[in-house]
Amino acid sequence: MQTKVTKAIFPVAGFGTRFLPATKSIPKEMLPLVDRPLIQYAIDEARAAGITDFIFVTSRGKSALEDYFDSAPELETALAENGKDALLATLQQTVMGSGAVAYVRQHERLGLGHAVWCARHLIGDEPFAVILPDDVIDADTPCLKQMVDAYGEFGGNMVAAMEVAPDQVSAYGILVVGSERGPALSVRGMVEKPKPADAPSNLAIIGRYILSPRVFKHLDALKLGAGGEIQLTDAIAKEIVEADNVHGYRFSGRRFDCGSKPGFLQATVAFGLQREELEDEFAAYLEGAMAEYRQRHTAKTAAAARVAAR
Ligand code: UTP
Repeated sequence: MQTKVTKAIFPVAGFGTRFLPATKSIPKEMLPLVDRPLIQYAIDEARAAGITDFIFVTSRGKSALEDYFDSAPELETALAENGKDALLATLQQTVMGSGAVAYVRQHERLGLGHAVWCARHLIGDEPFAVILPDDVIDADTPCLKQMVDAYGEFGGNMVAAMEVAPDQVSAYGILVVGSERGPALSVRGMVEKPKPADAPSNLAIIGRYILSPRVFKHLDALKLGAGGEIQLTDAIAKEIVEADNVHGYRFSGRRFDCGSKPGFLQATVAFGLQREELEDEFAAYLEGAMAEYRQRHTAKTAAAARVAAR
């Protein structure tokens, strides 16, 4: 059983409608948290986990992503000539070696499962990671690295798992949990977007996976699932039935749903406060902004109470 994971798929073919109009001409993955686009966080996490082959599943309108990973000789020369070494080093981190990145097109947005399936010929017969760049995870040990280390022991398939509030379960794929060993747990089933009353647990799957190439066989066979999309979780669910080798991994770290506005704003605050050169000014601003917000909120509540009392 091969358990070394060197390839990762980044499905980035979605419309990103929750960020319209910005995403009309900018891919969602290029929106910056502080000064780095979402995709850079995903790439750094993958590199830290030992990934050497980066496969992007793209669509029309995503060429800014391809340019981002290219070298920028004029800009580099200008920075070098002006002695801006730190900026030059930052810029050079974005360049991916020739041959390390591959792009495949998803011609129709038929869902995450279909996007992953589009990369099947580039994966071949080995385990691979899937990273959804809009799930940004702040962790001491990068999330995928935690999973890759655990995967060495378990093999099969592994999904990142996170506890969510009961009223949030209907936004996620939710795990039916079997036995647990430390942060790893065996998965007995998965329910896509259940009603709170029907949820088998409060453990949600989030956007990090390590999958067996057998998943492609299941994706091949899949009919359209919930919402007319080919769901990745449906293919993983088949592995539970056929091979009983799906594990959840409760990673350590904080996940931000940067595909949503609240999550993106929270991540901006969290990452902004972690930047030494920004934290003092930013924290002072946030404190002032919160004081103003509370004042406004109190005045609004008092006004509403007066109207209600009339
Ligand atoms: P989302 O459900 O967040 O959809 O996709 P979206 O289009 O990106 O954003 P909204 O909901 O319109 O705002 C989750 C991930 O799956 C990819 C997306 O690019 C994102 O990384 N995806 C989704 C595809 O690559 N292809 C698809 O057909 C669907």
